[in-house]
Amino acid sequence: MDTIKTIAIVGGTGALGGGLAMACARAGLRVYLGSRDPERASAAARQIADATGATVSGADNLSCAAEGDLVAVTVPFASQFEILRQIAGKVEGRIVLDTTVPLVPPKVARVQLPAEGSAANRALAALGSGVRLVTGFHSVSAQKLSKGEKIEGDVLLFSDDVEAREKVVGLANMIGLRGIHAGPLANSVAGEAMTSVLIGINKRYGVREGAGIVVTGIAHDA
Ligand SMILES: NC(=O)c1ccc[n+]([C@@H]2O[C@H](COP(=O)([O-])OP(=O)(O)OC[C@H]3O[C@@H](n4cnc5c(N)ncnc54)[C@H](OP(=O)(O)O)[C@@H]3O)[C@@H](O)[C@H]2O)c1
Repeated sequence: MDTIKTIAIVGGTGALGGGLAMACARAGLRVYLGSRDPERASAAARQIADATGATVSGADNLSCAAEGDLVAVTVPFASQFEILRQIAGKVEGRIVLDTTVPLVPPKVARVQLPAEGSAANRALAALGSGVRLVTGFHSVSAQKLSKGEKIEGDVLLFSDDVEAREKVVGLANMIGLRGIHAGPLANSVAGEAMTSVLIGINKRYGVREGAGIVVTGIAHDA
């Protein structure tokens, strides 16, 4: 199976998108960054290109979504549906990684699921079933990704399309994380909800750069 060599990141000027872009650029991937403001995307792309030597370019979200072997979406929950509706026509038949956690400020350490049951269900409703939707990276620290620091937590990945999920597991491994097949989109709610639990743990125990979860018992070569 071909590995992912190019990634487009819609909402790529933010914390997680920027961190993911840095990690992918360091790993030698070609990176496209998207923003509502193409100039902001280009400025962020230049910074990442200067820091890593990789080829990184910026554009508006819609043009960005037309690029890449994989389109990652890293926007706040409040804008997830609208942005996914906007890009739906560009990503038909392609792999989309939605990282959205349904956080509802101010009580972000409390699990608050949307009416659809999960952010994954909301993504499916916005994109339609013709898109190869994978969800995950819900509890990966954007800050550590950006700095290139070791991340001990695993990356749980959910999809009904096992081949698409395998490609994103491969991407996670490529950028120095450990991707884990965590089952169908119906399971995504568990990964999404766990993020609020981890935010509460961060507060309670003073974990400044984000607690993660590690799945035990998997053989290294599995
Ligand atoms: N931060 C983390 O550590 C982390 C970890 C795991 C998962 N996540 C999930 O990843 C997603 C992004 O989180 P984040 O912390 O990176 O968010 P963020 O920095 O607040 O926002 C990301 C980008 O989304 C765009 N955006 C903001 N408001 C928007 C709106 N109303 N409409 C369209 N685009 C908008 C902005 O880009 P432009 O202004 O350039 O358009 C912004 O740079 C969230 O769903 C979050 O739950 C975050």
